[in-house]
Amino acid sequence: MSNQRTLVLCKPDAVQRGAVGRIIDRFERKGLKIAGLKMVAVDEDLASRHYAEHLEKPFYPELRDFITSSPVIAMAIEGENAVEVVRNLMGVTNPQNAASGTIRGDFGLNLTKNLVHGSDSLASAEREVALFFKPDELFDYELTIREWM
Ligand code: RTP
Ligand code: MG
Repeated sequence: MSNQRTLVLCKPDAVQRGAVGRIIDRFERKGLKIAGLKMVAVDEDLASRHYAEHLEKPFYPELRDFITSSPVIAMAIEGENAVEVVRNLMGVTNPQNAASGTIRGDFGLNLTKNLVHGSDSLASAEREVALFFKPDELFDYELTIREWM
């Protein structure tokens, strides 16, 4: 059993569309635990650190302008194999190709406005959670229903 913590962002389009509650519901239903949650206005500096791997990509300016355009909801999501489980719940990057039943598959049509971010590896997850959350903003508590999930 591998208990992991991963970073999820409800991106600006999710906030603007009022989809945040429905997105959080997907993670809660699955049995994942919210270990931290807050609204963040991503500035250009945080965008460049969060998306460091994409800085030189041709789509980076569009991605930066989008992610800084409106606040996001940042969440540290915890559970068994959480990094992969969250990515599976999100669906593939392009919502047009994402399977029905996934967040991107059910809510999106646009490659940039794809509603959610989820860390792509355990190493990314540790780096990204630390980028968005101070230690005292992360909560270590028991979900009493866990043994039934
Ligand atoms: P994310 O990092 O946001 O969770 O998304 P991802 O892993 O599924 O995709 P990634 O390759 O990391 O790309 C980051 C975000 O950049 C935008 N994108 N635009 N125009 C393009 O070709 C393009 N490719 C990627 C998407 O918003 C993607 O989520
Ligand atoms: Mg990514």
